[in-house]
Amino acid sequence: MEKEVYILAIESSCDDTSAAVLRNEVLLSNVTASQAVHESYGGVVPELASRAHQQSIVPVVHEAIKRAGITKEQLSAVAFTRGPGLMGSLLVGVNFAKGFARSLGIPMIDVNHLQGHVMAHFIKSLPPSPSKEKPLPPPSPEGEGTPPPLPFLCLLVSGGNSQIVLVRAYNNMEVLGQTIDDAAGEAIDKCSKVMGLGYPGGPIIDRLARQGNPKAYQFAEPHIPGLDYSFSGLKTSFLYSLRKWIQDDPDFIEHHKEDIAASLEWTIVDILMKKLRLAVKQTGIKHVAVAGGVSANNGLRNAFHDHARRYGWTIYIPKFSYTTDNAAMIGVVGYYKYLDKEFCPIDAPAFSKVTFKCGTGSREKP
Ligand code: KG4
Repeated sequence: MEKEVYILAIESSCDDTSAAVLRNEVLLSNVTASQAVHESYGGVVPELASRAHQQSIVPVVHEAIKRAGITKEQLSAVAFTRGPGLMGSLLVGVNFAKGFARSLGIPMIDVNHLQGHVMAHFIKSLPPSPSKEKPLPPPSPEGEGTPPPLPFLCLLVSGGNSQIVLVRAYNNMEVLGQTIDDAAGEAIDKCSKVMGLGYPGGPIIDRLARQGNPKAYQFAEPHIPGLDYSFSGLKTSFLYSLRKWIQDDPDFIEHHKEDIAASLEWTIVDILMKKLRLAVKQTGIKHVAVAGGVSANNGLRNAFHDHARRYGWTIYIPKFSYTTDNAAMIGVVGYYKYLDKEFCPIDAPAFSKVTFKCGTGSREKP
């Protein structure tokens, strides 16, 4: 095997077209084109997402290779998100990756998007070079960006998933519990839409919540056995509460949006953390990570820090830039699969729905 492995990674599962280049496990570039076209619809419109991926994929890949300072002929393999996600979006990335790899005569590596989110904790970035125009960012708060030791638990919370994953190795992950209906991010986005706020709702609710009282209002919490989650009841409870309040005061949302956002965020974080505490109790594993778009949420991050203090957990919080969809996380999985020579055939189809395979792999690192 050659000394330097260069992986081009492509992510197109939802509404971000992203490409990254890694040299071994070190990230050289990570370029993402986010699709603003969905904002006015209050949610991702699959057909528009596919079209936007078509427009962005070539320039995004070109830019990623350019920023990495390599030529495409130096690439060792092309890794791509095979699923889960929106089929039309996935097809753009999957077929581009296949064509690109074929034209260069290099292997293709299929990556599970969810596995990618978990593996975002293992992205190693080059230290930024100091420049006069761009000052270095302040150091991350404690724990951010540090890879967890194996085994660890990972709360994976995004727009499409809410799961508690037991990670034994990069290719040996077990879902201990997951949502039986909506994902946490989906619930936040829908509640934000009902309030007439923009899309995606997560960052807006997060910002408003900082100025509100989390105990101002109460919304129904689910009673689901075991480690599974449910968020559809909360969504309904939120909608009915809003309707009632608006009947009494048509401007209720405008007058109380900070308190509503803070109470909604508090309830969602409480639901997430209760099951996570149970998972820690059942497994005895106190190394606990969080991943996925919702892990950018300040309330959830604070709850992690609080649990570290109260229950002696060691927590792992990804850098903000690696919380939402990005190709860097796909590249990390791609690199480890490359080392294991786990390539995929040209006829490997995209999967819109796929969970973790309960793998049997036992690579120790990671
Ligand atoms: O991981 P991601 O980019 O895409 C999926 O794979 O689903 O996650 C997107 C989700 C959206 O629901 C978005 O509202 C949510 O992550 N999100 C947040 C925040 N930033 C993004 N939710 C709460 N607080 C945030 N700061």
